[in-house]
Amino acid sequence: MDLAHTDSFAVRLDAAAQKVAALLAALLEEVPLEGEIARPEHLMRAMRHGVLNGGKRLRPFLVTETARLLGAPEAAALRVAAALECIHCYSLIHDDLPSMDDDDLRRGQPTVHIAFDEATAILAGDALLTLAFDILSAPETDLPDPAKLALISQLARAAGAGGMVGGQALDLQAERVTPDEAGIVRLQAMKTGALLRYACAAGAIAAGADAPTLGRMTRFGEIIGLAFQLADDLLDVTSDAATLGKAAGKDAGRGKGTLVSLHGIDQVRRRLDGLVEEAATLLEPFGAEARTLIEAAGFIASRDR
Ligand code: IPE
Ligand code: IPE
Ligand code: MG
Ligand code: MG
Ligand code: MG
Repeated sequence: MDLAHTDSFAVRLDAAAQKVAALLAALLEEVPLEGEIARPEHLMRAMRHGVLNGGKRLRPFLVTETARLLGAPEAAALRVAAALECIHCYSLIHDDLPSMDDDDLRRGQPTVHIAFDEATAILAGDALLTLAFDILSAPETDLPDPAKLALISQLARAAGAGGMVGGQALDLQAERVTPDEAGIVRLQAMKTGALLRYACAAGAIAAGADAPTLGRMTRFGEIIGLAFQLADDLLDVTSDAATLGKAAGKDAGRGKGTLVSLHGIDQVRRRLDGLVEEAATLLEPFGAEARTLIEAAGFIASRDR
């Protein structure tokens, strides 16, 4: 059943989350695909543990909602969304490792290296990273070749040394030498922003949008990327593990410079309000159909987990 555009934001987010979770479950089955030799049972269990564990699925939502707005085929958009969520979940599995943030709790459950072991967690992350590109490039992702190639190459750039992984590297450095404000903004634009920016751009690429539209959606993704990490850093200070499903108070505990540590909670809240306004203004040309994406920006800024 296709949801009418009048459904509330929470309903639409939940519906998108269920659809992408069902696809991810199918993609993480143990039966080997053509060209594969075998899928080790414990590795697949670890991958499923890191993926099928109730994340908010915001990045998949942004892909499918942008795709809907701009008229991309739903089935293909869902596969792009699943690929991006694989990268996100891999980034979380590795982010939680003892050599990185050393966290035991994620999405309310033991992290993958706690439920399994460290080596298996590293390998589960590696395999999810590769799976993302398998999903995008497979014939089942039914899009024109130029769009598919752009989706593959831009995901590689968003996820790699110049994007998410690079941001994680800068983030670890920031525990030793606190960067200035510009440095913090840049590392956050990389570690968190790059995948969110991709989420919004991907829907436009899948829809074959023209350059100005793609540029507008990309900028929208950048703004909500900024807002997303600001909210994450705020929640780290203001919330608790029971609500978040992951440890709180980690950033101060590790001496990590964030805009919250630099400017305080109130200023960051004001900045978040400004970003939501900016995001809404950017989507004005799309009219009422863009309401859900504008609500997504509001949700990202004011979320409680
Ligand atoms: C958490 O991302 C990690 C960051 C990039 C800050 P989410 O808050 O989207 O985590 P899940 O996917 O809902 O668990
Ligand atoms: C993680 O940032 C960003 C990525 C996983 C790329 P954080 O370390 O702040 O995320 P949480 O707070 O553990 O979810
Ligand atoms: Mg981290
Ligand atoms: Mg972390
Ligand atoms: Mg955090």
